[in-house]
Amino acid sequence: MAIIYNQEKRIFSLQTKNTTYQMMADQLGYLLHLYYGKKLEQDMDYLLSYTDRGFSGNPAEVADDRTYSLDTLPQEYPVLGTGDTRNSTLIICNADYSECCDLRYVSHEIIKGKYKLNGLPAVYADKDKAETLSIILEDSSNGTRVQLLYGILEEEDIITRSVIITNTGKEQFVIEKAASACLDFLDGDYELVHFYGRHTMERNMERIPVSHTEIKIESRRGASSHQHNPGVILARQDTTEDYGWCYGMLFVYSGSFMCETGKDQFGQTRIIMGLQSEQFHYPLNNGESFIVPETILCFSENGFSGLSLKYHDCIRNHICRGIYKKKLRPVLLNSWEASYFDFDGNTIINLAKEAASLGIDMVVMDDGWFGKRDSDNSGLGDWNVNESKLGCSLSRLVEAVNKQGVKFGIWIEPEMVSEDSELYRNHPDFVLQIPGRRPIHARNQLVLDFSREEVREVIFNQICNILDEANIEYIKWDMNRNLSELYSSKSFPGCVAYNYVTGVYDFLEKLLKRYPGILIEGCCGGGGRFDAGMLYYTPQIWCSDNTDAIDRLRIQYGTSFFYPACTVASHVSAVPNHQTGRVTSLKTRAVVAMAGIYGYEFDPGKLSEEEKEETRQQVKKYKEYQELIQSGDYYRLSNPFKDIFTAWENISKDGTQVLLSIVINEIHGNMPVYYVKLKGLREYALYRDKESGALYQGRALMEAGLPVRCRPGEYNASQIVLNIEDIN
Ligand code: GLA
Repeated sequence: MAIIYNQEKRIFSLQTKNTTYQMMADQLGYLLHLYYGKKLEQDMDYLLSYTDRGFSGNPAEVADDRTYSLDTLPQEYPVLGTGDTRNSTLIICNADYSECCDLRYVSHEIIKGKYKLNGLPAVYADKDKAETLSIILEDSSNGTRVQLLYGILEEEDIITRSVIITNTGKEQFVIEKAASACLDFLDGDYELVHFYGRHTMERNMERIPVSHTEIKIESRRGASSHQHNPGVILARQDTTEDYGWCYGMLFVYSGSFMCETGKDQFGQTRIIMGLQSEQFHYPLNNGESFIVPETILCFSENGFSGLSLKYHDCIRNHICRGIYKKKLRPVLLNSWEASYFDFDGNTIINLAKEAASLGIDMVVMDDGWFGKRDSDNSGLGDWNVNESKLGCSLSRLVEAVNKQGVKFGIWIEPEMVSEDSELYRNHPDFVLQIPGRRPIHARNQLVLDFSREEVREVIFNQICNILDEANIEYIKWDMNRNLSELYSSKSFPGCVAYNYVTGVYDFLEKLLKRYPGILIEGCCGGGGRFDAGMLYYTPQIWCSDNTDAIDRLRIQYGTSFFYPACTVASHVSAVPNHQTGRVTSLKTRAVVAMAGIYGYEFDPGKLSEEEKEETRQQVKKYKEYQELIQSGDYYRLSNPFKDIFTAWENISKDGTQVLLSIVINEIHGNMPVYYVKLKGLREYALYRDKESGALYQGRALMEAGLPVRCRPGEYNASQIVLNIEDIN
């Protein structure tokens, strides 16, 4: 039983294998947070202190007891208007414009299985592998009814939180702010680890102290964004990669979000994860409900690596869906960096021929195959095949590709429209725009109003016609700009950002239902929508438009904190690299791309015979270890932001096979020898280096490590395969 309820004290304990989460409905009906951390079997209400604090108000019913104040007590779902002047998870604006809500415990229910969220992505689990706690809180004066949902995956050490807000009152109120999770800590000095970035340089790791100022990690872009990721870690000051307490919060949502944290006047830390509150005003009338997207919580006492392992398993097994969840993904050759917009049917067939000779499984025809699309200035929205450009029909082209023994995939960008397109000329009202104003252009394109079903339907039908025409086995779903005009003819402006995202989810769900065999890869100018929400529909995401191997080391390092290797699409591209101009060896590019879902992004026809042979061997090698990479554990062994070398390790779940990858980031004269320490091995087992034949004890590899000797030359890379020999 993962959920234990102490009826007398009204204490709820959520127990996972290694963690405890506790809260209490107190004598006034307020839901107080008691504890989250290492597993305990004690009621933690003894931690609460009641002290008369100046300028911290008291609820009316205890007015003469000045020691009770929600301004100082730890809370589960703090709302504005109860005397808590700290940051809140919920702001309700009432019909009289007062911003107040006073939520008290009404009832709870413990349910077998994990709750689902209508129209939103969420963690799922077998019925006997999860439990749900549903707690109802209510404000009796304005009729706000809040259902706090907790999903507990005991074995996985995962606790999810979501919230359903319902108006049971007579008058309309407006939700001005809604978060799905809050963690209150009574003491401690914490640091926030977050992942910031920009287009072609996503998810750089930054670690900053939580202090008495409010820190906000957010996106206002309508997508989770390149600039900030909706996954953050709150760590104790002494926590490292391998040691110490840390908490993860991962928002399962692909739109504008907000994570806020700071210390209060008494040094207590609060962290909140939820929807972006700017441009968000969600009116609810009597009987209407609003679902706040889920946050996945996880606690690790083994530093960031312990936390990452848990998130990887959770995403891999409880977020990703479909037949490709467990299946080995095709190694693909994408036409984008090979030919950009400049291709015809023969170009694609030639790529397929090259792919076949190299052992590559699939060719993807990227942007440029539809409407009038020879540059990124036109054509979006016209999802009909440009047969005169291709020189044949799509079905003929796909047949020719399949004839080579190669699968076929296609690029689409359903959410967008170019002004220069038939769709825009016929339906200028389909775009997000504010009446009387010209919308902001980005990549010279506009955003379709996906909050409207009839708009989605037009695009859906167009896309289905394409998918029905030929044997298409993969889709790259792109989104090459952010939202700027949050105005729709069909919904209240403050609802548009949210309704847009749920519209995208609705589209994807319908697409998956109709084409369950198609693999969809997410993309947003690379990794601008790399989040757990998208991974529910698209089990892999193009990690970055930056294919430079050395930049990728950092991007993939940051990505790895929450997202498993089986979600990270990574390709070998040409040199000098198209984004950075950097030259790295074919080997280095392949080693770096093998950290995720492997592919190529160049024209193999331009390779020498030796390079082709090297590529053939790389594909073979990847396929040999693909199962290990997709389903094994992943460890970071160094920090590319600080260390001279970048190393990571893929190890099978049973610890019998290891793939160690190392790239030298910098070269200098007379280089010292470095030592890379492996992780997660069986301590007393013997591991044999497949190439050299050397035998090592697991413990030696973990405690003393392997020497990294830097050969002259820039960015050298190596891979070592270790197989268990003798299990002691
Ligand atoms: C985005 C993608 C690229 C490519 C282009 C095509 O930038 O991230 O990989 O598909 O669009 O326009």
